[in-house]
Amino acid sequence: MIFDILTLFPEMFRSPLEGSIIGKACEAGLIQVNLFNIRDYAEGKHRVTDDYPYGGGKGMIMKPEPIIRGIEVIQADNPEARVILMTPQGYLLRQELVKKLAQQPHLVLICGRYEGVDERVRDVVDEEISIGDYVLTGGELAALVVIDAIARLIPGVLGDEGASEDDSFAQGLLEYPQYTRPREFAGRKVPEILLSGDHLAIEQWRKQEALRRTWERRSDLLSQAGLSEGDHRILDELKRSSGTE
Ligand code: ADE
Repeated sequence: MIFDILTLFPEMFRSPLEGSIIGKACEAGLIQVNLFNIRDYAEGKHRVTDDYPYGGGKGMIMKPEPIIRGIEVIQADNPEARVILMTPQGYLLRQELVKKLAQQPHLVLICGRYEGVDERVRDVVDEEISIGDYVLTGGELAALVVIDAIARLIPGVLGDEGASEDDSFAQGLLEYPQYTRPREFAGRKVPEILLSGDHLAIEQWRKQEALRRTWERRSDLLSQAGLSEGDHRILDELKRSSGTE
């Protein structure tokens, strides 16, 4: 999987991409991240990449030519690459979209800065993505989030076991609570059922707790989670016992 990044701040990527799992995935050639400085595609002695907004208003707008030139340079050798603009106005990144993107062989991620990019950049991109309903100082951290979320789905990146079907959002629910040793810590015990060795009972408990956690924290996810009749029964019981129904 190849990621080409168009940014004014390539140094922001070095440390996150060198460390830990992502660094190893790069070394192993499972992913490749190429950094392109937008300034290199700007013209003139000062290689200016931003300018005042037409019509007035605060802040600076990123000029269209350097970004579009950068895209064209990348596309000249990679016509199949999918071009994505990172912006808070984009389509919200969820695990479902991460899965879809992970099937692409080549993504170009454009990182905006300042108050935004000239609208004409939008005309040449395939997709716009936001990582959440908040505004960052630029698209760089958002692009790193996209790279990280996709990389862990690529076979081999997480080791032999790979990403789990039990991960939060993998099945549309938050993940169930997890414990490791010690059995008791500061008077707080690991639930008995997890020590029982009864795999079926453990599976049922985990499903119930995943449903409970999702209902308590992210009830908006439940309608899209494709719940079975059994799941609905568990949920009804959880609601009844908590006194909300
Ligand atoms: N750039 C600034 N804020 C952003 C966000 N929330 N998602 C993607 N890119 C951004």
